[in-house]
Amino acid sequence: MSKLRFGIVGTGGIARHHAIALKALADDADLVACADILPGRAQQFAAEFGISRAYESARSMLDAGGLDVICVCTPHPQHAEPLILAAERGIHGVAEKPLTATLADADRVLEAVHKHGTKLSMISQRRWLPAAQRIRRAIDEGKLGDKIILGESFCEMWRGPEYYARDAWRGRWDTEGGGVLMNQSPHNIDFLLYYMGPAEEIFGYWANINHPYVEIEDNAVAVIRFKSGGLGILKGTVSMNPPRRIHGVTLVGSNGATVSLDCWDFATAQNDIWTVPGDEEKLDEWRAHDRSFGTGELPNFHAYQLRDVIDAIRTNREPAVTGEDGRRVVAIIQGVYESGRTGRPVKL
Ligand SMILES: NC(=O)c1ccc[n+]([C@@H]2O[C@H](COP(=O)([O-])OP(=O)(O)OC[C@H]3O[C@@H](n4cnc5c(N)ncnc54)[C@H](O)[C@@H]3O)[C@@H](O)[C@H]2O)c1
Repeated sequence: MSKLRFGIVGTGGIARHHAIALKALADDADLVACADILPGRAQQFAAEFGISRAYESARSMLDAGGLDVICVCTPHPQHAEPLILAAERGIHGVAEKPLTATLADADRVLEAVHKHGTKLSMISQRRWLPAAQRIRRAIDEGKLGDKIILGESFCEMWRGPEYYARDAWRGRWDTEGGGVLMNQSPHNIDFLLYYMGPAEEIFGYWANINHPYVEIEDNAVAVIRFKSGGLGILKGTVSMNPPRRIHGVTLVGSNGATVSLDCWDFATAQNDIWTVPGDEEKLDEWRAHDRSFGTGELPNFHAYQLRDVIDAIRTNREPAVTGEDGRRVVAIIQGVYESGRTGRPVKL
């Protein structure tokens, strides 16, 4: 079977994880092109990763042809355009989180993908962590009852002046699209929706409390009602120094059993709470496994997700993380922003 030809748009920090992942998937994927608007940046990236073609815009890369999939690794408001241009040319899209900065952009992307019959996935690589998969399996096996009653989703981080000074786009509404919700929280918002299903209504507050050197919110809280009848709490902060659990969820099942997923750094997560009857003896063993697992057989968790995307394209199925999943995360983020502005709950 021929290899899928990949291109990367935006060759900054996270693009490296995509390139490393694609190199590890070399039996099925060829990273053949990259693009970045900063002069020279794509060329430098291409030289480092042995990529044959480098461009100064997504459009010129896409117009040159010879691509099957693009990974979009640009700042959030810059996700939609390359995804739409790709779909229009019959090229599949992988978007870094969040799918887009606005719901209008998410809708434009989904419309293009549906119209042209291409695949779309939003990166949520932490879903492949063993501790995250263990919760999904427990839910599927009915170990948490017939639904999740209560879910807490948290992002507990610290970001200081040096972080926002790193790139001109950080810390501004127009170029970052938002703060702790938009940038840091999509992983744990996706976890909550992955386990609890679609949300129905949200009410929230957000503010910039102790980061006066940036515009965007550094703290946000919200309450959510899910279609299932379950209730949720969302908490995001970049004011916790030192940081604690960078992402995670705690879930209470209808049978009373409680489980948690706690991500402590980029590649480690464990289940700190697990009160499923019959599983009491297993937790220590699981924790030891998860600590020593690292990233397993592949170099990073992006590689697990990109392997799924490749299989989805080849077998013509939906990727494990869909474009609709991505839109739901954007709806939560924008729902909190709107609720904070209007003082009213927002229907999702
Ligand atoms: N999945 C994860 O765990 C994870 C971690 C970090 C960042 N991210 C996401 O990755 C994305 C990029 O973040 P980053 O930290 O790599 O940022 P970055 O600033 O390091 O890299 C972004 C790159 O995109 C380029 N760019 C900007 N606009 C462009 C355009 N229109 N066309 C082509 N290139 C353009 C910039 O010049 C820059 O080189 C964001 O969506 C962020 O949320 C995801």
